[in-house]
Amino acid sequence: MRIPESLAELGKKRIESYAAEGFVYGGGPENPLLMLVGEAPGETEIHNGIPFSGRAGKELMAFLERVGLQREDVYITSAVRSRPYKWREKRERTGEMIQKKYNRTPNEKEIIAHAPLLDYEIEKVNPEIIMTLGNIGLKRLAGRNMKISDMHGTVLEQPVRCLKNLESNEYGWTEKTYKIFPTYHPASIFYNRSLLEAIHEDLDKLGELLAQIREKRD
Ligand code: URA
Repeated sequence: MRIPESLAELGKKRIESYAAEGFVYGGGPENPLLMLVGEAPGETEIHNGIPFSGRAGKELMAFLERVGLQREDVYITSAVRSRPYKWREKRERTGEMIQKKYNRTPNEKEIIAHAPLLDYEIEKVNPEIIMTLGNIGLKRLAGRNMKISDMHGTVLEQPVRCLKNLESNEYGWTEKTYKIFPTYHPASIFYNRSLLEAIHEDLDKLGELLAQIREKRD
């Protein structure tokens, strides 16, 4: 599934006034067991157009392998489809100072700018489980008071947040309920290696949940 071109164009327009560059489509099958919702693409992704193809993506593929899945089996997307950046000074090896773009967390306005895209994807993809990666995906879908450190490794069965309408900056809730399974973002282990143990425990729980769903499906 890929979002219609008109919706991609709308997303590009809605984010154009923010410091966010490029556009990466989400992708994967409809009606999958699992949909992954990350934060926003990084530098690698906006260059090759493949979500989670950089350093965090490598970790994410190891997560999937642990539950017996591959990239092709899951739908992969994120709260924002462009790369939010900030300019910072960096010293070159020559000693010269240059300006360089660094990744940053998307802000609330950028998340709202791309909300119609994620809303469409969730409805159309219709996954059995939505695994949110990190705080951004969790708060976007399950509610702003949610915290990854409290919720990771639990199954939330509830409606997900969706934009009330295109003119509004307010969220409502979907009529349908979804199973949301929050875990940490794969990039979190680059800053805090000890999170890997918690992620592995979460993934083992996810594996059990997937087995139950597979059994019901077959
Ligand atoms: N982080 C995300 O959330 N998405 C990507 O595609 C890459 C890193």
